[in-house]
Amino acid sequence: MKIQAPPGMRDLYPDDMRLQNWLFDAWRSVSRDFGFVEYDGPIFEYLELYTLKSGEGIAGELFNFQDRGGRSFAIRPEMTPTLARMVAARANALPRPIKWFSIPRLCRAEKPQRGRLREFFQWNIDTLGHDDMLADAEVIAALCEFYRRLGVTPEQVAIRFNSRALASAVLSRAGMPESQVDRAFAAIDRYDAASPEEFSRRWQEAPRAAASAGSAASSAKDNPAANEPPAAEKSAEPLARFVSTERVLELLKSGLDACAASVPDDPAVAQLRELTGLLSAFGVSEYCRFDLGIVRGLAYYTGPVFEATATAGNLRALAGGGRYDNLTALLDGPRVTGVGFGMGDAPNIEFLRDLGGLPTLTDGLTAFVIETEESAWTDALGVLTRLRRAGIAADCSYRRAALGKQLKTASSRAARFAVLVGGEFRATGSVDVKCLQTGTQRRILLEALLSDPGGTLASLSSTG
Ligand code: HAM
Repeated sequence: MKIQAPPGMRDLYPDDMRLQNWLFDAWRSVSRDFGFVEYDGPIFEYLELYTLKSGEGIAGELFNFQDRGGRSFAIRPEMTPTLARMVAARANALPRPIKWFSIPRLCRAEKPQRGRLREFFQWNIDTLGHDDMLADAEVIAALCEFYRRLGVTPEQVAIRFNSRALASAVLSRAGMPESQVDRAFAAIDRYDAASPEEFSRRWQEAPRAAASAGSAASSAKDNPAANEPPAAEKSAEPLARFVSTERVLELLKSGLDACAASVPDDPAVAQLRELTGLLSAFGVSEYCRFDLGIVRGLAYYTGPVFEATATAGNLRALAGGGRYDNLTALLDGPRVTGVGFGMGDAPNIEFLRDLGGLPTLTDGLTAFVIETEESAWTDALGVLTRLRRAGIAADCSYRRAALGKQLKTASSRAARFAVLVGGEFRATGSVDVKCLQTGTQRRILLEALLSDPGGTLASLSSTG
């Protein structure tokens, strides 16, 4: 039987791995340049971490299992509950603000599609223990900086932001009863500007299937009754009964000013205005725009929320996040507020591929050692060893072949230099170093090369 990788799981061959490392390097360098430090957690957690109160929105996508002792676990589908658990456990000892990043491997039982896998890596940046909008603006600025560094323009990617509190106030003002607002979020979360008809249909049909996501959302609001499904939710009453589809579509298309005008005194308005000002101070306004349709699918968000989406093509969210002020408390820890986002590797690699923004990468060796005569083979191995001990990435051919053939192998391995070892090495300790790009070749004492490899090799490549 021929066994393949399971659906939605990836084999990362060296070419894929190179690309992934390049992406991880970009993630790490932005994180560090913004003052975030790296952490990690376990690949699986107690199932309850996701099913109790914190992450019900994702409970349908879990890979879970029992150990031999009958305890239930789930492979982590996201990092935020782990982060909240870790921070809650040391809440009093950690200096504030807590600015942490991570690149966890995650698993979700999703239907695999382009950019959406069952196993993927996700860059997480989070700031905990700081309540004001500076923290929200800074994580959004880091997100924008990632795209800016990769040459992705505001015409190609948009960071749409909103506030759950504002969306809730606006819907209430439009006539939506409080008990239905979270349920409406579930419909709005799947709002697609390109297909208002589909949205109307879903809205009219009062999606009972969305009720679980809706009740999960209500649990994030520190509402002691949140575990009880609201009475109205049990009925099949269409959402349309409360607010017309047209009215909601109109709201979804309106800007911050129009939304703010409908609930001028709501604190969420002042909060979003402050956020907008800070995004401008961080120099990332061009990438960011208000969008009432961004409410996010996960249960625990309490304030501003945001998503990065490609402005063209059909790739779903490239990154998403928001403020979660009650998550550590929901996990029975002390209350530590937080804000952050997650960005998947797969959708972003596909996005950059579509834009032609992926680099051509090689693992390029610095030196390829070649014996120029059969009798010098063991000396060549000695030279190879000395180069490697000096920290120079060096290799040789496993096959003894003519010089020309070995030089071809050196080029195919993307080596920068060939180090030719012949009879003169034994006599004088010198080797011939050939720059494979310029063709320049020079005889050098191996000791001289080893004492200043960078300088010697640089001079060779520049004198071509
Ligand atoms: P999320 O919206 O579930 O949020 O995921 C965030 C991002 O992870 C998505 O925008 C996408 O780039 C990537 N992603 C999600 N599912 C998949 C998948 N199946 N395959 C590939 N990429 C995927 C969260 O996970 C939150 N915990 C993020 C967060 C951190 N919020 C605050 N801090």
